[in-house]
Amino acid sequence: MALEELLILGSEVELREPSLEFFVTGCSGFIGTHLVKRLLDEGHMVTGYDLVIPAYTHVNFDFVQGDILDLERLRASVVKPDGIFHLAAQTKVPDSTQDPSYDFLVNAQGTFNVLSCASEATFVYASTSTVYGTAAPPTTEEHAMHPVSFYGASKAAGELYCSAFNGIFGVPATSLRLFNVYGPGNAKGVMYDLIKKLQLDGSHLEILGSGLQKKDYVYIDDVIDAFLLAYDKGIPGEAYNVGSGRAITVNEIASSICRILDLHPDISWTGGKSWEGDIESTQADISCFTSFGWKPRIDLEIGLHNLCNWIKS
Ligand SMILES: NC(=O)c1ccc[n+]([C@@H]2O[C@H](COP(=O)([O-])OP(=O)(O)OC[C@H]3O[C@@H](n4cnc5c(N)ncnc54)[C@H](O)[C@@H]3O)[C@@H](O)[C@H]2O)c1
Repeated sequence: MALEELLILGSEVELREPSLEFFVTGCSGFIGTHLVKRLLDEGHMVTGYDLVIPAYTHVNFDFVQGDILDLERLRASVVKPDGIFHLAAQTKVPDSTQDPSYDFLVNAQGTFNVLSCASEATFVYASTSTVYGTAAPPTTEEHAMHPVSFYGASKAAGELYCSAFNGIFGVPATSLRLFNVYGPGNAKGVMYDLIKKLQLDGSHLEILGSGLQKKDYVYIDDVIDAFLLAYDKGIPGEAYNVGSGRAITVNEIASSICRILDLHPDISWTGGKSWEGDIESTQADISCFTSFGWKPRIDLEIGLHNLCNWIKS
């Protein structure tokens, strides 16, 4: 995927200082790719670190291929940046059930390793709404972390290490509890799945579970705004919800996609739970982070349109 192929709709958020240096782990993934593009577009220098080689290059971008579990390589790569965005992770809930030890290593030990290289750099950690488990929506940051998957537990451990590194060594670390992030570049998740199925057969659509799972989906550009704001304004030691503040069912998503693609398939449901560790109902209370001037700007229909166009292309 070329960086230029990603649809960016423009933004109201820019970092206060020009020409900063950033270290981004997980730079080859969905969110990392968008984040690096934004930082480079704004004239900053970026060093990316990932197991996988990114599908882009840029004169102000250095890439180090490495594992966050390789502390020596990590230390040699983090050369006093102004900010660190830590996104590298084992990101799949079902995989965390299959191999909880690996999930723990990458997400808990890996985050500990990146934090131990941070020193004075402002640190922004990509956490997740799954730390709340089955908390009643809309969920505020005050709600206790109560994960019901190994993924949620290992990401919660990462947050706790951010807090401890902040308290003990003064690392200015904040966490963003991302709800479901969608948009061009994300080749996973329910929206991608539904669009791909309809591309293969526009006459029939099978929905996993009851279709009544109701979740908060936030568009990628809004999430990148949130990362930049967290760097500029986040209060060290704090964690912030980043969602749209609205919940929508899988059935509603399916209807919107069918409308956008102008398809009228027969719909069937597998029933039961979609997968182990899945949380059926999420909605962010975003009042805390919106107090910094952030707001989700991209409407679901526009976001889905962009995702459909990206998948088609
Ligand atoms: N996408 C979402 O909806 C969502 C929601 C909540 C939280 N998050 C968090 O945001 C972050 C980014 O998510 P994403 O959707 O871009 O995921 P992604 O899977 O697309 O990207 C993760 C990247 O991390 C890299 N990585 C994995 N293990 C590594 C290791 N040991 N060392 C170095 N690199 C490694 C992968 O190669 C990949 O490029 C993750 O921390 C994830 O937990 C994402």
